[in-house]
Parts: sequence; C-alpha cells; structure tokens
Amino acid sequence: MRRKLVAGNWKMNGNLAANSTLLNELVAALGTSAACDVAVCAPAPYLSQCQQQLAGSVVAWGAQDLSAHESGAYTGEVAGAMLADFGCKYVIVGHSERRAYHAESNALVAQKTLQALHSGLVPIVCVGETLAQREAGQTEQIVGEQLGAVLVLLEPAQLKRIVVAYEPVWAIGTGKTATPQMAQDVHASLRGLLAARDADAAATTAILYGGSMKPDNARELMAMPDIDGGLIGGAALKSADFLAIINAAS
Ligand code: G3H
Repeated sequence: MRRKLVAGNWKMNGNLAANSTLLNELVAALGTSAACDVAVCAPAPYLSQCQQQLAGSVVAWGAQDLSAHESGAYTGEVAGAMLADFGCKYVIVGHSERRAYHAESNALVAQKTLQALHSGLVPIVCVGETLAQREAGQTEQIVGEQLGAVLVLLEPAQLKRIVVAYEPVWAIGTGKTATPQMAQDVHASLRGLLAARDADAAATTAILYGGSMKPDNARELMAMPDIDGGLIGGAALKSADFLAIINAAS
C-alpha cells in the first residue's frame, strides 16, 4: 500500500507575509498527523522561512528546481546540497514550465535528478505531454521518453527514492483536468516503465497527478489505483483548498 503525497508547488508566488499566514494555517489545521504525506515546494528565497515555520510539523518542504552541478561557477544556480542545508526533503525536477521556458531537455532533467539523489533529496520528476502531442496520439511515447531518460541513469536503490508526477501540459493552470481514467491510463503506463527496471520500485514509487487538481476533483482522481497523490499549483496557494485536497487523499 503506497502512502499518498499531496505536494504544493507555489511556483513564483508568495511573499513573507502571505507565506507566513498560509504555513501557519496548514500547521494549525493538520496538527500532529495527516492522512497523507504533505509538502510545499516554495521559491528558493523562502526555504528558510519554511524551515522555521514547518520544522517539527507534519508538513515537509522542498524546492522547485536545482542545479545539475554539485558546486562551482554557475551564477544564479542553487545546488542540491544548499537545499538540503535548509532542510528540504523534496525538489521538483523537469516541471513543464522549466522545460518550456528554460529549454530543459530530458538529459538535463535526468542529471538534475541524479544531483537531487546525491544530495539526499527526493526528486519529484515531472513528465507530461502538450495538447498537440496528445491529439497526435503521442502521449505514451513522450512521457515514456521523458521518464526513460531518467530511469536509465538510476541504480535500483535510487529508483526507489524518486517520486514521479504526471502533469499534462494542457491541464496546468487551465482549469481543464484529465479525466480520472485518462490520468490512470498514463499512470499505469509510467508504472509499467518502472516495473521494467525494477518490480519493487514500481510497487512502491508514488506517481502524482498534477494539472488543475482542485477540491472538487481531487478525490475522484486520487481514487484511481495508480494515482498516489497530487502536485498542486493554484489550489496550493489557499489553505482551505489545499487542506481540502489533503483530506481527499485519505
Ligand atoms: O506543479 C503543479 C502543476 O503545474 C499544476 O498547476 O494546479 O495550477 O494546474 P495547477
């Protein structure tokens, strides 16, 4: 039985005051136990704030990206070890916005995944097809190439330490959600790829759905056998919505 994970991706939103309110509300509402694993992935400048406000709570925190390099002359980059210094458990890699706006290739995403693992972080590896790719019947091929580039680099023990997130690009921030069955079909095919490498990893790896997951569709999506939680964008910015999604995971 896989424990579900609901992770918020704040993207480039928030400020000290708004974050403080949001984090306090989450901690107060969740108390000492949550029905699923919970995390927030904040912009890098606010990771210290997350550490201060969330340490000792049931809410873990993480970053939205990391460098593919360990250290050195890479101006503006943030190393995995730096994220670990601030208590991060997770780091998102290969989000479609990174792939689209920062030209991140499958190979770069795979290197970032390795760096995350070397730094002791749990990478949340994002894959997903565009609308044109779905309409051309290429969904499985595209997400297979995206995940395959990562899996080929990992040892069996590392395979068990990743989280995968399926985020159809056409569903992100658009209010259009994949139907539970559409998402389940892709999740099952991703789990099949994991199984081809390592059956144990396939059984234990969480595969999250992301793309306009909201309180009113979260329960139905997370009830599917291969959907192990959500990577939540817009709805993670309001505590009531995020908490409702967390409750829907139970
Ligand atoms: O990482 C999160 C996803 O991009 C989903 O964003 O819930 O605003 O559609 P969204």
